Amino acid sequence: MKDSIRVFAPATVANVGCAFDVLGFALHEPGDELILKPNFENTVRVISIEGDGGVLSKDPQFNTASVALNAMLTSMGSRQGFDIYLRKKMPLGSGLGSSAASAVAAIFAANEMLEKPLSPSELLPFAMEGERLACGSAHADNVAPSLLGGFVLIPSYQPLIIRTLPVPEGLSAVVVHPEIEVKTRDARDVLRQKISLQSASSQWGRVGGLVASLFTSDFELLAASLDDQIVEPARAVLIPGFYRVKQAALENGALGCSISGSGPSVFALCGPGSDPALVANAMKKAFQEIQIPATAYTSEINRKGPVVLESGD
Ligand code: HSE
Repeated sequence: MKDSIRVFAPATVANVGCAFDVLGFALHEPGDELILKPNFENTVRVISIEGDGGVLSKDPQFNTASVALNAMLTSMGSRQGFDIYLRKKMPLGSGLGSSAASAVAAIFAANEMLEKPLSPSELLPFAMEGERLACGSAHADNVAPSLLGGFVLIPSYQPLIIRTLPVPEGLSAVVVHPEIEVKTRDARDVLRQKISLQSASSQWGRVGGLVASLFTSDFELLAASLDDQIVEPARAVLIPGFYRVKQAALENGALGCSISGSGPSVFALCGPGSDPALVANAMKKAFQEIQIPATAYTSEINRKGPVVLESGD
C-alpha cells in the first residue's frame, strides 16, 4: 500500500432549485483537500484540520470524514487503520456541501489506497453516513455529485437509486457565498412537513422539466423549470437580501437562481448566451449593498468528481 495520498473532493450545489434532496451538481471550486496515510493502530484518527477556524471535531466519532471512512471499513470487514489530515478549502455551513466534500475525500482516498475495491456508487452509502452525522439526515444530493461528478439524480432513497444526468455543453454555474452561516439542521427545521397537492403537482412538473432540459440541452425549458415554490420561500428568510440577489442574477442574464443546498450560498445557472462573470459580480454587489461581504465562484459543471492530487510511494 502507498504511504500517503492527497486528494481533492469538490463542493456541490444541492437541490438545484425545485429538486429538494433529489438532485445536485459538482463545482470545480471550491472543495476540500485531504491527505490519508495508513497507520498500524487498526483505527481511524483525525490528526489535523486546517482552514476550519478550530470549529470541527477531531474526535473520529464526530467528524464527517472519519465517520464515512469508518462506515466503509466496517462494511468491508477491514481492520486497516488510517490517519486523516484535512484541509478545509471551503466555508463551513455555506450550503456548498462542506461536510459532504470531507466525507467524499476520505472514502475516495481510502478506496484508492486499497486499490479500488469499490465503485463510486458503492462508496455513496458511506458518505451519506457523514451527512447523517452533520445534520441528522442522510440525504445524498451533496455527496453523490461530489463523488460521481456532474449532475446526479436520486430517484429513490429506499432502495437507494442514483443516476448521473447529462451536462449540456455551455452550461456554467455561479455561486455566491455571503459571510453568514446557516446550519443545515436549522434550515431543515424551517420547512413545512405538509404541502398541498397543487403545490406538489407544480413542483413535480418542474423537476421533470429540469431533468428533461439536461437531456435535451433545452436552456429555455431549464430556465422555466428551476423555480422552487416550496423550499426556497421558507428558507429565503434565513438569507438577508436573497430576493435582491436573485433579481440581480436574472437581470444580468442567468437562466435561473436559487438557494444552494440549505444556504446561505446562492447559485445561478448560465447558458451559452450569458456571461457568468457579469452575473457573479451583480449577485455579489447585491449582497454588498446590504453590508454583507460575499465571495463569488464561477465554474463549469465538474464532470469528474474527486481526483488524486498526489500519490506517495
Ligand atoms: N438537500 C439538502 C437540504 C442539502 O436542502 O437540506 C443540504 O446540504
